Formats: sequence, structure tokens, C-alpha cells
Amino acid sequence: MPDNNNTNIILTGFMGTGKTTVGKLLAKKLKREFVDTDQLIEERQGLAVPEIFAKLGEAAFRRMEAAIAGELGERQGLVISTGGRLMLDPANVKALSSTGHVFCLVATSEEILSRVTSDADNHRPLLDGANPGERIAALLQERKQGYERFLTLDTGNKQPSDIAEDILKILPTL
Ligand code: S3P
Repeated sequence: MPDNNNTNIILTGFMGTGKTTVGKLLAKKLKREFVDTDQLIEERQGLAVPEIFAKLGEAAFRRMEAAIAGELGERQGLVISTGGRLMLDPANVKALSSTGHVFCLVATSEEILSRVTSDADNHRPLLDGANPGERIAALLQERKQGYERFLTLDTGNKQPSDIAEDILKILPTL
């Protein structure tokens, strides 16, 4: 693993756990470049994530995520916020974790539901349907083991700046 000053910092976790907000804060504090994988895909495709799901399909979106994981794994000194499922794919984990420290942000299904419903600008196609609460609970259950492999940080009752500070404290110990 390369030295900490240059090692990528990768944020994973379920939708609505604050990866993008925390990642931006962390990048600012560390004076590093910030990359959000969903935003990068949107810029390159010229389409928003829900449009990619609708027009090209989820499998195409996952291939785009894999390509970006491979690319970012070749770079250093970044703070990277990943889409909620990117780090559940073993090939993506391999590409990113050999050159980066991975932190998984965790929240309860209630907190996630409240955050994603108040985040009207960021539409999550996987949560479309009559009962997003049930969908969140089911997906969390399905993904639990995958997320738990990483160093997890509970975001409950914490501000994004608190989480960024927590990460800054942990980094020198890694
Ligand atoms: C997804 C999470 C989203 C986005 C896409 C799929 C997922 O990113 O990549 O809607 O499968 O968990 P956020 O976690 O940033 O919302």
C-alpha cells in the first residue's frame, strides 16, 4: 500500500449515507481532488443516472462503473465517493482497494429513507416503486455482508463534518 499522503480514500455505503457530502468535505480538508463516480459517469454519458438506467439498462451502468473503478485505481491522491453498489463487485474492490483506503458509511433504513426522500435532486432508480422503505430494507439486507467487509463508520446523529473528522483521525493509524 502506498504512503498515506497519496493513497486514495474511497467512500462506499448504501444510497443516502452521505458519501458525496462527506467526500467533498474530506477532499477540501486534505486539499485533494474529489471524484464522485456517479457524477463522472453522468458527465461522460451526457445523461443522468436514472436516464442511463431507463435507456441503456442497469447492466450497462454497472459496466461503466467497472471501467471507472479500473481507471481510478491507476490514479493516486484522490478522494473518491462511489455509487452505492460499486464496491460490492469483487473486481471493483480489487481495482480500487489495492491503491486506496476504503471506508463504508452506515445508516439505518429509517435514516436512509428520510435522507433519500428529502434529496429530491438525486433520483435513485432502484428505489422507484410504491414502497421505497421496503425496498431499502430488502436491499440493505441483501448487501449487508458486502458492506461489512470494510471499515464501517456509523453516520447516525452525526453531521457530515463529524464523519470527515473521524476519517481524518483514523487515516494515520492505517
Ligand atoms: C446505486 C446507488 C446510486 C447510483 C445508482 C445505483 C445502488 O449512487 O449509483 O442509482 O445500486 O446503490 P448513490 O449511492 O450515490 O446514491
